[in-house]
Amino acid sequence: MSIVADDNDFAIKKHGGKNPVIKAESIEFDKNFENCIRPKSFDTYIGQSALKETLKISIEAAKKRELPLDHLLFYGPPGLGKTTLAGVIAEQMGVEIKITSAPALERPRDIIGILMSLKGGEILFIDEIHRLNKVAEEILYPAMEDFFLDMTTGKSQTVKTLRVPLPKFTLIGATTKAGELSGPLRDRFGIIHRLEFYTEDELAQVITRTAGILNIEITEEGAHAIAKRSRGTPRIANRLVKRVSDYALVKHDGKITEDVANKSLDILKIDHFGLDTTDRALLKLIIEKYDGGPVGIETIAAAIGEDVRTLEDVCEPYLLQAGLLQRTPRGRKVSPAAYRHLGYKNTPPEQQGLF
Ligand SMILES: Nc1ncnc2c1ncn2[C@@H]1O[C@H](COP(=O)(O)OP(=O)(O)OP(=O)(O)O)[C@@H](O)[C@H]1O
Ligand SMILES: [Mg+2]
Repeated sequence: MSIVADDNDFAIKKHGGKNPVIKAESIEFDKNFENCIRPKSFDTYIGQSALKETLKISIEAAKKRELPLDHLLFYGPPGLGKTTLAGVIAEQMGVEIKITSAPALERPRDIIGILMSLKGGEILFIDEIHRLNKVAEEILYPAMEDFFLDMTTGKSQTVKTLRVPLPKFTLIGATTKAGELSGPLRDRFGIIHRLEFYTEDELAQVITRTAGILNIEITEEGAHAIAKRSRGTPRIANRLVKRVSDYALVKHDGKITEDVANKSLDILKIDHFGLDTTDRALLKLIIEKYDGGPVGIETIAAAIGEDVRTLEDVCEPYLLQAGLLQRTPRGRKVSPAAYRHLGYKNTPPEQQGLF
């Protein structure tokens, strides 16, 4: 994996706009790494306290009733712990979890096969559930509501509908795009929760825990230095621990102190807000070429060489929540905070006092 280490932020264009270290989406390289550090219980699952409390109550109630948990939908930006939480719930319920994702359920027989393989009480986890096609959704509705499958046999006039009962199961859906989920599907989830970005303290705990598992020595200040630049996202925090640890090992004695963390993150071109070259390129483009916006997302994507989906799913959620960017019906606008952060003295007159 290469890191763009060019002084010019717009240089990201030359590298196809990719800096995988800081992007919260999951990439093939960290699947094994993620599995070994993924929390398995509520005790080790850090943060999201309100959500955890609600879930603990639902789990206890389901156990007392000896019924499966209601169907759950988790949504929020990548890397915040949706898949991890589904695993924790399965562990807590003492049941198996079958994991799949909507793009793998293209044909009717894919979803029928997986539903028929479920045993009573088991959890079916469908990632990227907003990408389910209409046919798969139609099959899911009666399965979720009344636990049966409507199967058709025969042709034209001899067609018969067969109702096949299914064991009672729990569906956990995860999505980064709740808005793209169809209304009828969303309505069939009993519990719907949004995952929040993590605070610096929570990320420092994630970092300290990961460093412990990987036998990396780290000071509290070192953990906070990494946490500050992790965009509120555990997946990024964990990735940065590894990168900073490499630097600490090669350039120092292996221990991650505040100074070592800061130097290493500077080299990775991750600033103290956690922004990387793509984020800065996006903000700079709007400021320098479009007077602060508004400008359409397609125009931005074409200019900085990223695809629209990556910008919308991966870059924007954090920029919006950090108050650096605003979504308007006419396009994206940057805030005076973004001007200040990037070192511009003046904001355009029409933007002053807007934020
Ligand atoms: N609450 C948490 N406490 C500790 N570590 C966490 C927590 N949430 C997530 N992580 C870590 O972050 C990594 C990414 O989490 P996870 O895969 O669950 O995110 P996700 O929301 O499912 O992302 P995506 O939308 O890309 O599927 C995990 O490997 C896990 O180690
Ligand atoms: Mg996931």
